[in-house]
Amino acid sequence: MIIHDVHIENASEHMDVRIEKGTFQQFAPAIEPHEGEEVIDGQGGVLIPPFVDPHVHLDAALTAGDPEWNETGTLFDGIRIWYERKKTLTVQDVKDRALHTLRMMARNGIQYVRSHVDVTDPGLTALHALLEVREQVAPFMTLQLVAFPQEGILSFPHGKELMEEAVKEGADVVGGIPHYEFTSEYGRESLRFLMDLAQRNDRLVDVHCDEIDDPASRNLETLATLAYESGMADRVTASHTTAMGSYNDAYAYKLFRLLRMSGINFVSNPLVNMHLGGRFDTYPKRRGLTRVKELNEAGINVAFGEDDIQDPWSPLGAGNMLDVVRMGLYAAQIMGYRQIMDAYRFVTYNGAATLHIAPEDYGIAVDKPANGVVLNAPNFYHALNENAETLYSIRGGKVIVRTKAKETSTAF
Ligand code: FE2
Repeated sequence: MIIHDVHIENASEHMDVRIEKGTFQQFAPAIEPHEGEEVIDGQGGVLIPPFVDPHVHLDAALTAGDPEWNETGTLFDGIRIWYERKKTLTVQDVKDRALHTLRMMARNGIQYVRSHVDVTDPGLTALHALLEVREQVAPFMTLQLVAFPQEGILSFPHGKELMEEAVKEGADVVGGIPHYEFTSEYGRESLRFLMDLAQRNDRLVDVHCDEIDDPASRNLETLATLAYESGMADRVTASHTTAMGSYNDAYAYKLFRLLRMSGINFVSNPLVNMHLGGRFDTYPKRRGLTRVKELNEAGINVAFGEDDIQDPWSPLGAGNMLDVVRMGLYAAQIMGYRQIMDAYRFVTYNGAATLHIAPEDYGIAVDKPANGVVLNAPNFYHALNENAETLYSIRGGKVIVRTKAKETSTAF
């Protein structure tokens, strides 16, 4: 197959791309098709690696308003409302909503997803549903599942056993929520438990860490130390870390040395953190984000996630990483022209590193798997401004999503 006329990762030249046996094989200004070789028209769009959403909650997606809307917009009311909705979950209910959400995401060029799955449920209903969904979507999407203890590990009855069971049943990643545990001692102990669980079972780690506007919430230093001392390093991810937006600069400076040494990844969720953060402030009002710009400039891997899609924590969400990047750039003030052009990396390469995808399996280069998306704009700056459609999402050399560009006319 040939993709005709694309700009590869913002390059100004128009190129053709040949795909053979599911891998990229040739990049050249004009490639003559072999007899019978399929040619698709890239229409001068930008070809980038597939989008990665490294942090979403598929089990809760599309439940907004059921049983009630979160009118205060706090994380804690979200947890309270989800606690009620969780009682009515069935495997079919979770599967239907998760598949619907994944199709929305696929249409927007997402091929890699890491979903947290609430395992503070004695029946593990959501996990059972999402294990089936992971199988079902495997030809089209890479779906990683995190055993996520929404109500705590030490602060929930049989929390440790439920985490062990979730891993045994096939969760890819071990999660945590230390700032929500009853005490800071419990928080630290939960981190030691979950790191040990991951090591014993050869799993990755992704912790909801310090998602609170409280400068005293310092679980991150423990997680980073455990990642450093255990050698788990880049197999570990700290999600949210919004308390870092409230740390004083002297402490943050000291912390950054450890963060660099630890090699851990960060996921910031700009849409949801802007919505949930600062809710207990009057004025001045905090932005509720971690130090994205500073982490990025320190060479620490930071990816963006959408987190919540029409659920008790966010009434909005379209499964589109362009929305996420746009908010991330505004909120973290990363708005230089080059920074905007490069910003696709927050939702492609940086996300892939977070998911621990091998570098040889991800990216636009000869011999790599032919996975990529063509957006309907010549570069990422225009793609963001125009909210460009995903003309094609290609996986293993096959077109899995195809969109007709919309046509609008004006009277002047
Ligand atoms: Fe989350």
